[in-house]
Amino acid sequence: MRLCFVVVALLCLSSGLLTSPYKLLSHQWSKLILTYHWPETFCIKEGCTTKFNYWTLHGLWPDKGDMCNSSWHFNASQIKDLIPEMEKYWPNLLSKGPSMSTVLWKHEWLKHGTCAATLEALNSEHKYFSKALELYQKLNLDGTLRKANIVPAQTHYSLEQIEMAIVNYYSVKPKIQCIHEQGEEAQILGQIEICFSKDFQLINCEKNEDDYWSSLNDILTLDTNTTGYYMCDENTPVLYPPLETV
Ligand SMILES: *[C@@H]1O[C@H](CO)[C@@H](O)[C@H](O)[C@H]1NC(C)=O
Ligand SMILES: *[C@@H]1O[C@H](CO)[C@@H](O)[C@H](O)[C@H]1NC(C)=O
Ligand SMILES: *[C@@H]1O[C@H](CO)[C@@H](O)[C@H](O)[C@H]1NC(C)=O
Repeated sequence: MRLCFVVVALLCLSSGLLTSPYKLLSHQWSKLILTYHWPETFCIKEGCTTKFNYWTLHGLWPDKGDMCNSSWHFNASQIKDLIPEMEKYWPNLLSKGPSMSTVLWKHEWLKHGTCAATLEALNSEHKYFSKALELYQKLNLDGTLRKANIVPAQTHYSLEQIEMAIVNYYSVKPKIQCIHEQGEEAQILGQIEICFSKDFQLINCEKNEDDYWSSLNDILTLDTNTTGYYMCDENTPVLYPPLETV
């Protein structure tokens, strides 16, 4: 009886391990990940300073694939009308001047946009960037957290408090990422991912069989130095750092 159970479990485990890499290679994506980052945490990690006191966009990423069409070059003049909004909500947090932001947008387009473009609703630069801005505005993550009294402060939250604020409002599970600073007891809130289906309905960012592969994929494909981000630990207090005023 017990042996039988072990055999079945092993079969399940091995089939899971065998199918996942195959799916990774197939370049078929099934979900879109809208990734926000908290500028102050980003700058703690990268050693920059920031004036942004709200969650900014990092990207809109298909869950699988990157650099899907190398002949589809980024052309900033296609999104000219969006640039004021992009500078505000999708800035390059590392840039010293506004012109540098196009470096981030170009990267996001080449790496992720050209893959998202298999969807008719996203099959141009303009559609891709304006959809990301639309989803960003619609979710209003800052407002959602504030309503649950989760605000940047020198106090600690539990991961559950932050997660529940999001689950209660959007009815889907996010992925929440933190960084850890040496010598600190708390972990620092860094990124929040909210997931969408191909028809732009909110869905859970599930921790399923594919999750290991897609997060591996995220790590391999991110533009900035992401060595620091990990899934926040549920037993460690979370700091949501206010803007450093210097
Ligand atoms: C790749 O991009 C080029 C240039 O925009 C386009 O003509 C072509 O259809 C794209 N190929 C695919 C497979 O989407
Ligand atoms: C970029 O887009 C503009 C506006 O659509 C167009 O006039 C221009 O030819 C494009 N540039 C390149 C290099 O494709
Ligand atoms: C990335 O960040 C880590 C930790 O802050 C640092 O040790 C590492 O040198 C950085 N790597 C690059 C490529 O910038």
